[in-house]
Amino acid sequence: MIVNKTIAATMDQLNLHRQKGLSIGLVPTMGALHEGHLSLIRRARAENDIVVCSIFVNPIQFNNKEDLAKYPRTLEADTALLESENCDIIFAPEVNEIYPNNNEPITVYDLEGLDKPMEGQFRPGHFQGVCVIVHKLFNIVNPDRAYFGNKDFQQLAIIRNMVKKQKLNLEIVGCDIIREKDGLAMSSRNMRLTESERLIAPKIYQTLLQAKNKIADYKNTLFTPALLKQWISDEISSNEPLKPEYVEIVDTISLQPTEDWNGGKTLIVCVAVFDGSVRLIDNLILFS
Ligand code: PAF
Repeated sequence: MIVNKTIAATMDQLNLHRQKGLSIGLVPTMGALHEGHLSLIRRARAENDIVVCSIFVNPIQFNNKEDLAKYPRTLEADTALLESENCDIIFAPEVNEIYPNNNEPITVYDLEGLDKPMEGQFRPGHFQGVCVIVHKLFNIVNPDRAYFGNKDFQQLAIIRNMVKKQKLNLEIVGCDIIREKDGLAMSSRNMRLTESERLIAPKIYQTLLQAKNKIADYKNTLFTPALLKQWISDEISSNEPLKPEYVEIVDTISLQPTEDWNGGKTLIVCVAVFDGSVRLIDNLILFS
């Protein structure tokens, strides 16, 4: 396995592979790798000749300086994990390799409103920052396929849209959420939970599962999405110190909130919840 810090070295190596007709799979990450990331690496390994994992804590997608400073950086441990998964290349640049000139005009993407609900309400500019780095990584690695987790459901929808609009020639592969045994969605942020916060955290997913069961009973009745959202919010809040930031039920394509259960659309419930000071997100397809 090779660890690259520079764009030039990465592009040179990948060009040689491409000349030999080898396929390339990219797993973009910000490091602090866990089983969720490793499942993406395994899928990329199974579907491509060459696997590249990028590790870059992208400053421009953080709208909170403290969150950026606190983001775990564990390159040594990440490298060992990737080695054991037979990753071929790690691309782990410094910030000035990616953004060499602070005055460089940064592309502004038309996200067609997909960035407005949910995360967009609380993290202004976040998805623009994600699109800038993901597009840069695609230009550097030029992968056949890129792998993202469904936990960041809104991010995945926005990246798919960006790829379509920019007419980029690669496949975006969305992968299932990987959960701890007790149901908590795996996240690099979980390592910041205290013991008691970690114990209560699975209540988030348990509540989403209960909500899904409720719809099975109440669909087509007066139990509206608005009432279900309120129920989820109350249920989560009843477990101190969990505090929902948003609970939203949206169409999986447009990400627009739904007011009723009709329309034959696939609906997903998405939540962001503070567990103490740690912000966790999760989601569950309600029905299709
Ligand atoms: O999901 C993440 O870890 C990041 O948003 C990504 C896609 C690596 C871009 O920095």
